[in-house]
Amino acid sequence: MNRQRIFSGIQPSGNLHLGNYLGAIKNWVKLQDEYDSIFCVVDLHAITVPQNPEELRKKTLEVAKIYLAAGIDPEKCSIFIQSHVSEHTELMWILNTITKIPELNKMTQFKDKSVSSDVSNISIGAGLLNYPVLMAADILLYDTNLVPVGEDQLQHIEITRTLAKRFNKRFGETFVIPEPYIQKEGMRIMGLDDPTKKMSKSASSEYNYIALTDDEETIRKKIKKAVTDSGSEIVYCDDKPALKNLINIYSLLSDTPPKEIEKKYENKGYADFKSDLADVAVSFMKPFQKKMKEYDDEKVLEILRQGAERVRPLAKKKLEEVKKKIGFVI
Ligand code: TYM
Repeated sequence: MNRQRIFSGIQPSGNLHLGNYLGAIKNWVKLQDEYDSIFCVVDLHAITVPQNPEELRKKTLEVAKIYLAAGIDPEKCSIFIQSHVSEHTELMWILNTITKIPELNKMTQFKDKSVSSDVSNISIGAGLLNYPVLMAADILLYDTNLVPVGEDQLQHIEITRTLAKRFNKRFGETFVIPEPYIQKEGMRIMGLDDPTKKMSKSASSEYNYIALTDDEETIRKKIKKAVTDSGSEIVYCDDKPALKNLINIYSLLSDTPPKEIEKKYENKGYADFKSDLADVAVSFMKPFQKKMKEYDDEKVLEILRQGAERVRPLAKKKLEEVKKKIGFVI
């Protein structure tokens, strides 16, 4: 039986938040039964902006714990650390040689990050510019059919497709052309402090996001402080982007359709709605965080090592095919 393959990853930088969970991880959990699934902790991507080494080590294991606590089953999927499979960087180098600089210059994430406060003081590293090429290598190494991500990654999948087609055209059929897999509801969770910008790990204010490691008091405080729109009705519409975002979060965490939520709060105001949303968020987070604590570092590392062992042969085979096609002596 030949199942389709999915591949996705998350950077171990900053605090993982509800946007990462609702836009990506929640869907992975649903897809793992149907697809041959590979999930990566992309540490090589994380170092495209400065990282504290101790913190990076800690966060790498934490991201893996989040995958596991969310319900990613290491028996069904391969979970591994990107830097454990060196074929990713090797393929990236080769793909670099067919990537055009203007294609990288125009990437929104590059433009955003290169002006963000943590990198603007120092010169921008070439790694940040080449970031999408490494992501293309991640995806193309494994004959990936679908890439389940949030909406912000669409442009990166588009360039991955461009590079795959370009390589195939120049050197013969080698790479599967991947498709993005985006779930409409969670694809773009917005910041709690500003509904015009996405919830982000690198946001300057911690009131932008609810981290997957936030305690109850913090969650309640953040939801209380979340901006709302004018008026007092609880309605789900584009004219009320802050409320729409909060209803989306409520809906996804409690598996309740937005229209039902609207109805529930017909004669109630923001205070009731926010207090219940906080309850919903806390009752999701408590068991989740309890599960995270059940995994000690050694156990997680063992799972990650086994995951790398499982995917390495696939990566090796693809890289060898690539090397032959471009004329390297094997
Ligand atoms: P990263 O680490 O920024 O984000 C991880 C995942 O979370 C999604 N996401 C969101 N979804 C909805 N609302 C939000 N506010 C929100 N913020 C983040 C992202 O879309 C993503 O799915 N470049 C990738 C990591 C990567 C990768 C890959 C992904 C490296 N190689 C190969 C897929 C395939 C990234 O920076 O994700």
